[in-house]
Amino acid sequence: MACVSFAKLNAASSQWIGGQQSFAQRPGPSTRLATRRVSVPIRAGAYTDELIQTAKAIASPGRGILAIDESNATCGKRLSSIGLDNTEPNRQAYRQLLLTTPGLGEYISGAILFEETLYQSTTDGKKFVDCLREQKIVPGIKVDKGLVPLPGSNNESWCQGLDGLSSRSAEYYKQGARFAKWRTVVSIPCGPSALAVKEAAWGLARYAAISQDNGLVPIVEPEILLDGDHPIERTLEVAEKVWAEVFYYLAENNVIFEGILLKPSMVTPGAEHKEKASPDTIAKYTLTMLRRRVPPAVPGIMFLSGGQSEVEATLNLNAMNQSPNPWHVSFSYARALQNTVLKTWQGRPESVEAAQKALLVRAKANSLAQLGKYSAEGESEEAKKGMFVKGYTY
Ligand code: 13P
Repeated sequence: MACVSFAKLNAASSQWIGGQQSFAQRPGPSTRLATRRVSVPIRAGAYTDELIQTAKAIASPGRGILAIDESNATCGKRLSSIGLDNTEPNRQAYRQLLLTTPGLGEYISGAILFEETLYQSTTDGKKFVDCLREQKIVPGIKVDKGLVPLPGSNNESWCQGLDGLSSRSAEYYKQGARFAKWRTVVSIPCGPSALAVKEAAWGLARYAAISQDNGLVPIVEPEILLDGDHPIERTLEVAEKVWAEVFYYLAENNVIFEGILLKPSMVTPGAEHKEKASPDTIAKYTLTMLRRRVPPAVPGIMFLSGGQSEVEATLNLNAMNQSPNPWHVSFSYARALQNTVLKTWQGRPESVEAAQKALLVRAKANSLAQLGKYSAEGESEEAKKGMFVKGYTY
């Protein structure tokens, strides 16, 4: 693997290690000190410059990510909510509607796809990846293999998918993907146990290192589930714990912080807590957590919606962009971008255009929220409906 010009800061040891010189190699006042500190150079990866460019392109002003990486089973749930069977042609029709929306690239910088969609084409034979590229939308791929019970924990889960990840990622890159997503979850009502947090953080870090090694910008997503009746302070405490561990292991794995994106959940009270929090409160707690835990080297924070209504997710994002942040603060929503679209489409070919317009309405609203300029005036009742599902699986 070729060395590249970018000098990498190893956050674990606080030493510049990507260039020719490390601290231990420099002549110092004491030769004893110099010989004791053995330098182990770590080469920057072949893709370093490209990863940084890709992450920057996704984290561009007024744009965010459209997440449509539902597994076939979860996509089936979306389709059955409008009375459609979970068949490949129906999944293709739905994804075609989304990915061929005219003008989408103005508000959307990246789209996360499920493996089936990455290799799929429109009914006219045009690759979905090419539809995206034409609109300057970066194609991404969900690479985790889903959640399974974590033995030895308090009914918690862990995320599978590291085996074979390197070769899969290389194939996805060849197919046109330039970023990846790995979603693991942490449950507050289940503890979370120290084991579950450590496992989540370590898995994310290994995945991130492997993705970067294959040219894919990793989206790091430890979703702290909305489930529970806890207050917002408890979510803040857990989020701080989780992100501290995630960054510790990212650094241990020599992940390049400039070439990652984060996908956190917002810091909110548990969905069953007696009081709801305002967008200003959610923004205050979420930004407090991020400022305490996320280095400014990270280019973008792309939130998940996690069961909030479309309008809530947009209002909260808007509140977070009322003053400048050290990172691009944006969206990577699935449910909060798709709900009205599905309800408008209902599987009817004659409603495709109206459904695409509905997608543009949501994408534009979130684009404005990324710029801190959104107002909820005139939003539909449908867009205000919450989508929280207890124990939601993705
Ligand atoms: P939601 O916005 O529906 O929470 O999506 C989560 C996710 O990880 C999609 O990639």
